[in-house]
Amino acid sequence: MNGASQSAETAQAARRIMARADALGAISETPGALTRTHLTEEHRRAAKLVAGWMHEAGLAVWTDAAGNVCGRIEGAGPELPALLLGSHIDTVPDAGRYDGPLGVLLAIEVAARAAPGVLPFALEVVAFGDEEGTRFGTALSGSRALAGSWDDAWWDCTDASGISLRTAFERFGLDPRRLPDAAREPKDLVAYLEAHIEQGPFLEQAGQPLAVVSSIAGARRFALTVTGRAGHAGGTPYELRRDALVGASELVVEIERIGQELDVIATVGRMHAYPGGVNVIPGRVELSLDLRAEFDADRDDAWGRIQEAADQITALRDLEWSAQETYRADAVQCADWLQQAVEEGIRAACGDDPLTLWSRAGHDAMAVAGVAEVGMLFVRCGNQGVSHSPDETVSTGDVALALDAFTAAVRAVAERYAARS
Ligand code: GLV
Ligand code: MN
Ligand code: MN
Repeated sequence: MNGASQSAETAQAARRIMARADALGAISETPGALTRTHLTEEHRRAAKLVAGWMHEAGLAVWTDAAGNVCGRIEGAGPELPALLLGSHIDTVPDAGRYDGPLGVLLAIEVAARAAPGVLPFALEVVAFGDEEGTRFGTALSGSRALAGSWDDAWWDCTDASGISLRTAFERFGLDPRRLPDAAREPKDLVAYLEAHIEQGPFLEQAGQPLAVVSSIAGARRFALTVTGRAGHAGGTPYELRRDALVGASELVVEIERIGQELDVIATVGRMHAYPGGVNVIPGRVELSLDLRAEFDADRDDAWGRIQEAADQITALRDLEWSAQETYRADAVQCADWLQQAVEEGIRAACGDDPLTLWSRAGHDAMAVAGVAEVGMLFVRCGNQGVSHSPDETVSTGDVALALDAFTAAVRAVAERYAARS
């Protein structure tokens, strides 16, 4: 790497980010593994730490009506529109320490470097509380509250203990009737920038630390049910079996085949067989399906092919199947001017022309795109890019480069914005 010169201050800030990621990583609902979900006591503790760091960085801090932690530094004038920087502080079960928190911690350091009253906009940092949807199945609900696209059906979603989102809001000290107050107006926003670990192997393979994101994959998720007939494992001959698990398993293999053929990412992440006895033929299977693609049309074609496959497989085995769509987010394009600003930021920090990647993972930026133009910066993660796993890793050196690149990208946004206004 041609490394542009990096200051001792940057190296120190990168070490601080790593230490803070460790501190957040220690706040978990599950002993021995990192799991921190929406509106839990652990969410409250993490939010308090983040709010303290924002305060130290000189930001005016508040919690919005959806439980997102927000901080703001004013620009060269009162009540100017804000450039938002953010990511999330909730996790998947048994998570790594960087998916989400890294973007929040980088944003806080960028804001700490911004002198108040100088930029042509206000700078705001947002730590979203529910990107993953782990607890209530409501992915991106923090950022959708901010974008004004909250779905009232979510209030009745329940967690594994039967606690509704509405009740969890109230126990957290939030008032569900005030939720609309979290929504931001397009006129009050300049844009949204998010830094995030890549969650894939491409930067590592290319030997580069940072990338510009061109777009974020569209996703659809389904709850599938395959139904047959439960029966005695010993007494039921093969010709009389209607084994839902064997049918569902064939479908899983076919789903992977279709995904590979159409260049669509198709994952069955969960499969439960009922009634679940070792000596009982499974009468019903519930499975999840997650589909993603760079282009929504490819994702939807794959879903069409999977439905045909499910019809064929279940017909041959005298089974039935049904599907319920549980989540849909269409692909989001990062704005050209923000891609250019991020590219300029990376060039300033690293000296090289950066890779451009589309994001296979979902991000808060997808929701915020409903109310502001978005841009993203990816940071290399090691171990072949593993993420949603405790093996997730980033290096302090890459974090330092990301901090300088993110800072320079904000400067580049300021120049472009000032030239436009
Ligand atoms: C979020 O991390 C997702 O892409 O599932
Ligand atoms: Mn994630
Ligand atoms: Mn994430």
